[in-house]
Amino acid sequence: MSAARVRSVSSNLSVAPEQLTVGGYVAGDVLVSSEDLQDRILAIGAEIAADYVGRQPLLVGVLKGAFMFMSDLARAIDLPVEFDFMAVSSYGHSTRSSGVVRIVKDLDIDLTGRDVILVEDIIDSGLTLNYLRRNLLARNPASLEVCALLVRENHAVDEAILRYEGFRVPGDFLVGYGLDVDEKFRNLPDIRIAGRSDVGVGDEATT
Ligand code: IMP
Ligand code: MG
Repeated sequence: MSAARVRSVSSNLSVAPEQLTVGGYVAGDVLVSSEDLQDRILAIGAEIAADYVGRQPLLVGVLKGAFMFMSDLARAIDLPVEFDFMAVSSYGHSTRSSGVVRIVKDLDIDLTGRDVILVEDIIDSGLTLNYLRRNLLARNPASLEVCALLVRENHAVDEAILRYEGFRVPGDFLVGYGLDVDEKFRNLPDIRIAGRSDVGVGDEATT
C-alpha cells in the first residue's frame, strides 16, 4: 500500500487549550487531523481484512505508542483478530533514539504458526523495527508483516518490509494519538508537532 502524504491543517477546535501546553511542552500545529487518521485507518483495516480472508491474524502492538492506533485498527478489520502487546524501551525521556532496544514486557501468546502483524506508531530511524522483526521471526510465525501508522521520510529500513502504512511524515518531533513527549499528549485525537513552551513551537532548531 502506498502511504498518504501529510498535509498540515492549522487547528483543531475540539481540543481544549489546557491540553496543549503541559509540563514545559507545547503540542502545536496539527500535522494529521483526527478525521484523516480515521479515514486512513478504515482503509488500512479493509486492506488487511481482504489480505487475510480465512485467517485469524494476531496483531502485536508495540506499547505504549501504538495502543490507540491498534485499538482503532482492530475495529476496522472485519475478521476475527487476536491481540498481544509488547513494550520496548528505546527512547527513555529523550527525543533521540539511543539505538538500544530493550524488551520491557514480552508477548503472552506463542507465535508459532501464527499470521502476525506488527503494529507500530512511528518508524523513525527503524532501529526498533529491525530489532523487533528479528526477534519475532525467531519465534517461527507463519508470516510476519508490519503495519505502521507513521513512517519518516528519511527512515533507514528496507521499503519492502513496510507492508501497511498510514502517512509519510517529516522529521519534526510528533505527539498525540498515542505518541508522547515525556509521557505527555498521548490522548490527543490528532497528530501534532511538539515544541518547548519556553522557546515556542518551531524555534528549537535555531536556538
Ligand atoms: P526508531 O527506533 O528510531 O524507529 O524509533 C521508533 C520509536 O521512537 C517509536 O516507536 C516511538 O516510540 C519513538 N518515536 C520516534 N519518533 C517519535 C516522535 O516524533 N514522537 C514520539 N515518539 C517518537
Ligand atoms: Mg513506539
